[in-house]
Amino acid sequence: MKIVSTISEAREAVKSARSAGKTIGLVPTMGSLHEGHLSLVRASKSACGFTAASIFVNPTQFNSSEDYNTYPRDAGRDLELLDKEGVDMVFAPPFEEMYREKTSAYIDIGKLSEIFEGKLRPGHFRGVCTVVCKLFNIITPDRAYFGWKDAQQLIIIKKMVKALNMPVEVIGCPTVRESDGLAASSRNIFIAAGERERALCLYKSLKKIEELLLKQNIRDTAILLEEGRKIITKYPDVELQYLEITDAENLECIEEVKGRALVLGAIKLSRVRLIDNLTLSF
Ligand code: PAF
Repeated sequence: MKIVSTISEAREAVKSARSAGKTIGLVPTMGSLHEGHLSLVRASKSACGFTAASIFVNPTQFNSSEDYNTYPRDAGRDLELLDKEGVDMVFAPPFEEMYREKTSAYIDIGKLSEIFEGKLRPGHFRGVCTVVCKLFNIITPDRAYFGWKDAQQLIIIKKMVKALNMPVEVIGCPTVRESDGLAASSRNIFIAAGERERALCLYKSLKKIEELLLKQNIRDTAILLEEGRKIITKYPDVELQYLEITDAENLECIEEVKGRALVLGAIKLSRVRLIDNLTLSF
């Protein structure tokens, strides 16, 4: 596995893979890898002749320097995992390499980036879109892989690619869950030992909504959400930040589940925010 830290080295490696006729797959990450990331790598490897993964904790998508500074980092372990998966190249640039110009150009995707995660973390998606656009320009992947766990991020990136005519296929891969259902996340290490049951209440609430829809045919989202919220609010020390049912394409809240919809939510425990979602098909 080739490990590079400069844009020119990354471009060189991609150029020779492409001239050997290989399709380029990219898995962008901020490191601290878990099974979710590895499933993206496997998806890329099954479809592309050359898989690149990037590791870059992107400061422009963090709202507080505390969150940025405490974001888990373990480069040695990450490289070992990626090597085992057979990744061809890891692009792990330092801050100065990515933001050499003291970036004055950003990607702003509008309304979609101001709701849910964007409302709670102003500027977050501007930072995500900007760094993903930079990574696309550097690696020039044919396909790029993102997890459905960050549904809003995935939908926004798809929108960016379409709106800006970027020549890359964005592929959403299913959320990977731990054995009790908790969505895999780099931040799960911040869940305290006694907090696991509380951490699971968001997933249980999503599953309850799915069950009421599929088994009891309840399509009215006000009723579904009321039942879902009850599961979370019974824990006084869990802050429910949002729980909504939306159209699966444009994230607009809906009153009735008709076709494909998304139920998505966020909670805050003592040291960690957790987000999760399920696709509802009716
Ligand atoms: O999902 C992430 O880990 C990050 O938001 C991404 C896409 C790597 C951009 O920094």
